Amino acid sequence: MKSRIQFHLVHVMALCAVLGLLVVGAISLAGTGLAQSKSPANTFNRLLKSPTTAKNAPPAEDGVHDPQNPGTTMLQWPSEAFTEFDKSSDGNQVDWMSILRAGKISPWFEFESQTTEPFLFDLVIVREVKGSMPNVVFPHEAHTQWLDCSNCHDEIFIPEKGANQISMAAILLGQKCGVCHGRVAFPVTDCRRCHAQPKTPEELRALAEKSNWAKTSKTSTDQTAAPDKK
Ligand code: HEC
Ligand code: HEC
Ligand code: HEC
Repeated sequence: MKSRIQFHLVHVMALCAVLGLLVVGAISLAGTGLAQSKSPANTFNRLLKSPTTAKNAPPAEDGVHDPQNPGTTMLQWPSEAFTEFDKSSDGNQVDWMSILRAGKISPWFEFESQTTEPFLFDLVIVREVKGSMPNVVFPHEAHTQWLDCSNCHDEIFIPEKGANQISMAAILLGQKCGVCHGRVAFPVTDCRRCHAQPKTPEELRALAEKSNWAKTSKTSTDQTAAPDKK
């Protein structure tokens, strides 16, 4: 009986380890910032550094768990735990939002109380991006299924639309969205998941006109072509 309970505990712990990596990782990252890492760069980011271990390696080889600890060998392997999960092409190849919505996992929102419901917040923030790159859509609802307001406010983001300076450079360095994305949430390589609002045909036309105008005005520095230089 006792060993059976322990066996179940191992399974539960394995699942918790998998989910915990995401949720607790996100929370501790948000909480402690990057204080512990030697460099502020987002070292998990595949655009900055290639991973040193195979994708979804067994716990003893993943570079996260202690291979000397006998408990490590008791953990369920990600390759087994993830078999039923919807796939994504990036990160650990699981579409976490999709399996959460499908009810395939139900993470605890609070460690102390497994019945605590998340406080879902349905506010979408659209950040306009200059040029033809689609605008960034930040959905609060998706984030508050895993995270508490305090994981982002006020340390990472001031809760005021447009009050934060965000750039791809900062994200790649592990700041702003990059505190989590490329680390415990889908990586930066998945452009379209954030840049989800395409420019309208009018906006694209205006951009095209502007670039044509830029070309014409460049050639017009040529004395013969400039009408006002006669
Ligand atoms: C994953 C990070 C994250 C979490 C978690 C989060 N927010 Fe935000 N919040 C943002 C970002 C990003 C913005 C946009 C800031 C900007 O545009 O400069 C924002 C903006 C806001 C704004 C400003 C809206 C406006 O129109 O000016 C409010 C209010 C806000 N959040 C409240 C909350 C509350 C309440 C929670 C918890 C239920 C929460 N946020 C959880 C990231 C987060
Ligand atoms: C995790 C979300 C996220 C992902 C993934 C992402 N971006 Fe961004 N991107 C942003 C945010 C946020 C901004 C800042 C928008 C603003 O100006 O407020 C931004 C800005 C940009 C800009 C405008 C200039 C700049 O550097 O700030 C470009 C261009 C861009 N992204 C390209 C890309 C490309 C290409 C990819 C894929 C390789 C990508 N982004 C992936 C969130 C993301
Ligand atoms: C504190 C951690 C954290 C920060 C900061 C954060 N995210 Fe996320 N984000 C997550 C987690 C966790 C998920 C869910 C897991 C996944 O999809 O990989 C997620 C999912 C998403 C999704 C997918 C939503 C869906 O329905 O599929 C988008 C889009 C997104 N984030 C955009 C952003 C943008 C843009 C920023 C910066 C303005 C940002 N996130 C900042 C943790 C974070």
